Amino acid sequence: MPHGRITGWATHLPEKVLTNDELAKIVDTSDEWIRERTGISTRHVDGTVTEMSTEAGRSAMAMAGVAADDIDLLLLASCTSDQQFPASASVVQHNLGLTCGAIDMNAACSGFVYGLVTAMQYIDGGLDRVLLIGSDALSPLIDWADRGTCVLFGDGAGAVVIERSAEEPSLLGWDLMSDGSAAGILYCDHGGKIVMNGQEVFRRAVLAMESAARKAMEQAAVTSDDIALVVPHQANVRIIEASFKRLGLTMDRAAMVLHRTGNTSAASIPLAMVDAIDAGRIQQGDLLLLVGFGAGMSSAAAVIRWDAPAR
Ligand code: UT7
Repeated sequence: MPHGRITGWATHLPEKVLTNDELAKIVDTSDEWIRERTGISTRHVDGTVTEMSTEAGRSAMAMAGVAADDIDLLLLASCTSDQQFPASASVVQHNLGLTCGAIDMNAACSGFVYGLVTAMQYIDGGLDRVLLIGSDALSPLIDWADRGTCVLFGDGAGAVVIERSAEEPSLLGWDLMSDGSAAGILYCDHGGKIVMNGQEVFRRAVLAMESAARKAMEQAAVTSDDIALVVPHQANVRIIEASFKRLGLTMDRAAMVLHRTGNTSAASIPLAMVDAIDAGRIQQGDLLLLVGFGAGMSSAAAVIRWDAPAR
């Protein structure tokens, strides 16, 4: 039975870059504090979900060599849709000239992994090609007077084309979880700004990443020794370090773009994954562990075997 595999990928970041020093002119913070406590140096701002998604989606389709008519479904993982409705996916579908269904999926920062697992089920269910995009524009939702949140977030998008073509499944194991009892520690009301209890999110994030990763690896019947590269949600380098320690992983196996993107929510995992591909860190047959957490509190992990077509 044919399965889904990733055949094209691309990312997009808005042009405008905001540095830590620039933030230090707005709130009582410093480049040193932000780098030491989060690992972030710069982030991109002033993007919109529909523009960034369109750019990333178009480039991923070009790389895969697929035409607009070939895409059977557009899944857009985002918690910051440009409008209340219509879904940003509908606007992106039109921008790209697609002739298929289009839906937004909101699993906050876990959205890309939720989307990947969902896309693979659609492929197993009979679709030939799914365009999956993770995209968030957090900068419009930032309270620029709150130093506990304004230094963390940025805007970005990452897209992959998933095609029904592989002999062997590339998704070997996965875990999706949500703990709605913690919804109050990270949220944004309609028309409001991001509100976060940073310490509580930090504490829960480390445990959620570990749990999701363990469950996905168990289902895939692999251990952390088998994983060539981990692509963690890029929120805070200290969260990644703490969860890696619990999983027996060393940081040299982490894909990282946090220093230059900040936390881009659903875009962070594809941004880090594509960066690692471009840097030659992912080889044919490698096992990747994608793992994220976010508002909700959602968490998600997937073990995939990298089997993109040779180029
Ligand atoms: O995708 C999920 C999204 N969210 C996250 O992943 C966030 C998870 N949480 C975190 O990353 C961290 O909790 C933060 C980066 C938000 C904060 O780091 P922390 O090490 O947990 O700091 P803290 O909240 O314990 O605060 C320590 C001190 C406080 O000052 P006092 O009370 O000790 O005088 C804060 O007011 O650091 C202060 N502080 C800052 N100082 C300079 C908080 N934010 C800043 C700042 N610059 N930007």
